[in-house]
Amino acid sequence: MKGIVFTEFLEMVEEKFGLEMVDDIIEKSDLASEGSYTAVGVYDFLEMQQLIVHLSEETGIPVQKLIYEYGRYFFDVLAQGHANIFARYASPIELLASVQDHIHVEVQKLYPGAELPTFEISKKDEKLLEMTYYSKNSLYMFAMALMEKTFEFFKKTPVIDYNLVEADGSQVKFVISEQ
Ligand code: HEM
Repeated sequence: MKGIVFTEFLEMVEEKFGLEMVDDIIEKSDLASEGSYTAVGVYDFLEMQQLIVHLSEETGIPVQKLIYEYGRYFFDVLAQGHANIFARYASPIELLASVQDHIHVEVQKLYPGAELPTFEISKKDEKLLEMTYYSKNSLYMFAMALMEKTFEFFKKTPVIDYNLVEADGSQVKFVISEQ
């Protein structure tokens, strides 16, 4: 997992819960990096898993809710850092349908070592997109948050349903429609 995902995560934890919380969750985790991350580095996803589980234990907020909130936060980082990419698309459905074949292909070049999910589109029209998320990291609530924020970016309202095809969240089908 790319370092920027860690640095921004700890930034969010500091903003929302304070610096002491950052120290606490690093302290509780068994981290090869010792909790010292750079945006361009690459670190084991197990480190992120531990940080999130410990944040959940400390705050009482469920893990999936924290992953979702982090997705919403990370979208703003992406939208600021990559405004040029967002500017290419005329609608949220067009943008989301391009993540697999265009956006993340470019991301792989910009962020060497990035671990990206796979999205497989099964249905698409102007107002509807059905696509299945695949990733061993099971960050489907992160995907959900990025999808919602993509609609907000275009000042549109979505209805997003999802269904865990695999119980561990490594394969999740999304049905996304624009209202
Ligand atoms: C300009 C737009 C985008 C950029 C620059 C971008 C970049 C990235 C980066 C750097 C990561 C971290 C990779 C790693 O952990 O090593 C990531 C992960 C991810 N991105 Fe994107 N992304 C963009 C748009 C989107 C959108 C719109 C979606 C919504 C479907 C999306 C879905 C995801 C998911 C779900 C992950 C987590 C990885 C996983 O599930 O295994 N991305 N992206």
